[in-house]
Amino acid sequence: MPNPYFSRRDFLHRAILAGLFSSLPVSVLAQIITRTPPKSPFGSNSTAEDVTEGLNLSGLTFAITGANSGLGFETMRVVALRGAHVIGIARTQEKADKACASVQGETTPMFLDLADWDSVVRCAEQIRALNIPLDGLITNAGIMALPELELVNGVERQFAVNHLGHFILINQLREPILAAPQGRFVMLSSRAHRRADNGIEFDNLDGSQHYDPWNAYGVSKLANALCARELAAQISHTNATANSVHPGVIATNLTKNLPAWQQWGAKYLGWMFLKDVAEGAATQTYVATSPDLVDVRGFYFADCNVADGTPYMKDDALAAKLWTVSEGLTKDFLPPAHRA
Ligand SMILES: NC(=O)c1ccc[n+]([C@@H]2O[C@H](COP(=O)([O-])OP(=O)(O)OC[C@H]3O[C@@H](n4cnc5c(N)ncnc54)[C@H](OP(=O)(O)O)[C@@H]3O)[C@@H](O)[C@H]2O)c1
Repeated sequence: MPNPYFSRRDFLHRAILAGLFSSLPVSVLAQIITRTPPKSPFGSNSTAEDVTEGLNLSGLTFAITGANSGLGFETMRVVALRGAHVIGIARTQEKADKACASVQGETTPMFLDLADWDSVVRCAEQIRALNIPLDGLITNAGIMALPELELVNGVERQFAVNHLGHFILINQLREPILAAPQGRFVMLSSRAHRRADNGIEFDNLDGSQHYDPWNAYGVSKLANALCARELAAQISHTNATANSVHPGVIATNLTKNLPAWQQWGAKYLGWMFLKDVAEGAATQTYVATSPDLVDVRGFYFADCNVADGTPYMKDDALAAKLWTVSEGLTKDFLPPAHRA
């Protein structure tokens, strides 16, 4: 079967462009090579099964964090159903085993704790040891709105888990993604990035100036999207892409840190105004698998289409600074080329 993503002509085209423009700054290069995403036929009511209907993903491998719960589990289920091999990553081996065993198709359970960066490196090593290209990495795991300030390695926990843990993972897995014909990084952001009123406050990454649960979550989700944007620019001369997504609002275990009445409301009344999990998993599944999104990089998607975010979401200088600061905070856990 021909590769649904990428033809030999595309490859030649990109190689020539990369050669011609290799002396340009990455942000300029990204704009030249990046394609504007087409309007998709899918929307807020589409499910992960809808957006992959008719797709044959056999021969492709995807890795998903948070694969034991909510949107990650549904994404794994559907991508495996369409024939892909899925590396289902959970916080413990036991959770990963259980999740992988309960879906049809080929899955490989692995574990990491995004708050334990040695474990992130070990998981990436295990994935690299499989010696196969990685067609997609969906950085889906996350925590939300921790009521009290908690620190991980001196950094506020949501920023450390949602952004920095995944930052290490994407850098550790760059090689297998770039080895795929058209590897994709898909990063879970959120509409809640709007809670980051002042963008990324680099002098408050440890919460020492102020702490608000939703602001901290918003900052971590803005960081996810900016990280995808900067990565997209850095890999724009390759076949790989990076994009971020807002899945919608869905009642999942993500609400576990909210007050009991809010959890109750989401669980029992949410069906009236929230997406269900099948719909919530659609956008990340679409961005990870759609043949229409070859060469589409650096965008923020919601409801399976490009969406608007705050001006911070398109701030390339902020994205570049975030990348540099993140490298500094995680330098002992990055591949050798990144250790300054
Ligand atoms: N649900 C929504 O309305 C919504 C809206 C916008 C964005 N999102 C984003 O969507 C993603 C998926 O959320 P969800 O709604 O599916 O939530 P969920 O059901 O709570 O799933 C979150 C997953 O992340 C894992 N996780 C949490 N902390 C971790 C850590 N330290 N190390 C490794 N894994 C960890 C959880 O593992 P455990 O089961 O072991 O805790 C779980 O598998 C998140 O990134 C979230 O920010 C969700």
